[in-house]
Formats: sequence, structure tokens, C-alpha cells
Amino acid sequence: MSPSRKFNFPHRHLLGIEALSPQDITVLLDLAEEYAILNRGPEKKLSRLRGLTQINLFFETSTRTRTSFELAGKRLGADVINMSVEGSAIKKGETLIDTAMTLNAMQPDIMVVRHPDSGAVDLLSQKVSGSVINAGDGSHAHPTQALLDALTVRRRRGRLEGLKVAICGDILHSRVARSNIQLFLAMGAEVRVVAPPTLLPIAVEKLGVKVHTNMLEGLKDCDIVMMLRLQTERMQGAFVPSLREYFHYFGLDRAKLAAAKGDALIMHPGPMNRGVEIDTDVADDIDRSVIHEQVEMGVAVRMACLEALAPVRDATSADGPAT
Ligand code: NCD
Repeated sequence: MSPSRKFNFPHRHLLGIEALSPQDITVLLDLAEEYAILNRGPEKKLSRLRGLTQINLFFETSTRTRTSFELAGKRLGADVINMSVEGSAIKKGETLIDTAMTLNAMQPDIMVVRHPDSGAVDLLSQKVSGSVINAGDGSHAHPTQALLDALTVRRRRGRLEGLKVAICGDILHSRVARSNIQLFLAMGAEVRVVAPPTLLPIAVEKLGVKVHTNMLEGLKDCDIVMMLRLQTERMQGAFVPSLREYFHYFGLDRAKLAAAKGDALIMHPGPMNRGVEIDTDVADDIDRSVIHEQVEMGVAVRMACLEALAPVRDATSADGPAT
């Protein structure tokens, strides 16, 4: 492979934000910042990962995450294979490991994995010889989403420290919420969660967040309003009385947004359910909504993660797989 640049990023896998220090997060964001500039230019292709094989293994549906990991790998010159297991008989336990071992035998350098079960990607990472990136496991973690959200905010506000971030909606089932809480707290932001009590995890305040069950109170003076989709695929039974009522109390519209700072940014990881957690009027507000920029930063952040993991493997794999 072409020589990778060396980074101070002492990790073989990227499974969650909790394993990263503020310094690690800054290394990734700085690198992603370079890629954000490259991606806006006419020549987007580099050869930093030439010779490496990246397998995207998705056991759950995805639009943004899978496409951006594919683009990220290709822009860095890796050979990228996509495997979608959605709808097949493969579920979990031994079968997951069997699949992983089969793919491992083909010597991929990096596996990007999404799975509906919390902990499944961690388990898989213990069985393969390359690096593993968690592209979302159940309601547990989605580290690259948190990193791309942080990059979007940092580019707009110039910092993360001291900002007031309100994460609103289905906190209980959201891996995006968990990873963002960890990242923004680690970087010195104040994080609030705003949701009906049925959509809050038990003892959520132990994570270090302020808890609100009223949007006007939760959004008061905040810099960032991050809306989340109702993760109905992870719900058994009804968690909200009706979608109309949910929108009335917890959907972001102009009136609720007015409680936040006048220049507060509106964010959403996608896919959006317009009229449920967010009103079209605010989702499409070109001055305040950074939802498309989040998607754009997703490619840059994933390029950074792929490159940062590659040297570790490079350094340890001269005579065989990393141990
Ligand atoms: C999120 C996910 O898959 O966790 N989407 C994404 O990666 N952009 C959020 C969601 O599905 O609501």
C-alpha cells in the first residue's frame, strides 16, 4: 500500500466514543477538516489506502452511513466491497461470527459493520484480524455519526467547549443520542436531553446530562438543537399516544425553536420524519438548518476514521495480521 501518514491515534478499532480521549477526538476532527476541504474541490481521489480492502457489512438498512463509508473508502483508494445482509436469514450469535470469520478469511483490512443488536459489532471485532468500525449497533453506539455532528458544529461555531446542546426526541432507543452525549460532554459542552418520560432511559441523568420533559424549557438559550427520529423499529408497543400529539408537544417548529438562541443550529441525523419530530419549515430553513452539511461532513469524517485506523494495522502487520 502507499505509505499512510502517521497519527497519534492509538486504537485498532472504532467501536464507540467512550474509548476515545478528547485528544483522539480532536485528531479525527482535524483530519476530517482537511478532507472536508478536499471533498469540495474538483479532484477528490487520493491513494492513501491503496492496496487495502474495506468490507461494508450492513445487517440493517442504511442510506447515508453506507453510502458515505463507500465513498470515503473509494476516495482514499481502498478496494470497497458492500455486503447487505438485510432481509437474509443471518441474525446473531454464532451465525454472525460465522459470517465474520468467512469474510475474515478473505483478508479485509477494515470492516465497517452495522447490526441491530447492541454489542454485536464489539463481539465481531474480537474475532477478526483487521480493524472494525462500528457503523451503528442497536441502540448502543454510532461513533462516526457523533463525530460528523461534532465536525459540523465545530466548523460553524469554531469550538465545542461551552456550547449548550439540546438532544430531543427518542433518547431511549437512539445510538446517535448516546454517542453524541459522550462526545459533546468529553469536549466540554453542556448537554441536555428533552423527551417525554417514556422515551428517556432510566437514570439518564447519570450520563451527566440535564433532563427536560418540556421543549420550551429544554431549548431555552441553547446553541444546538438536535432532533431525533422515533425509532419505531426498536419499539415494542406504544411509547407515544399518537404522532399528532407527539408533534404538538415534542416536534420542532418555529414556536419551540424561539426558545433557543436566535442563531441556534438545527440538526438531524436523518432519516427525517417531517411532521413527526420536525416541521418542514424549520428543517428546510437555509439559515439555521445544517442537516445537509451533516451528510457532507459524514464523508469527511469517515475518510478520517479510515485513515486513522490504517496506520495501526500497517505498523503491526508486516508479518501477519494485527494481534
Ligand atoms: C441514524 C441511525 O441509523 O442510527 N441514522 C444515521 O445513521 N444517519 C438515526 C436513525 O436511524 O434515526
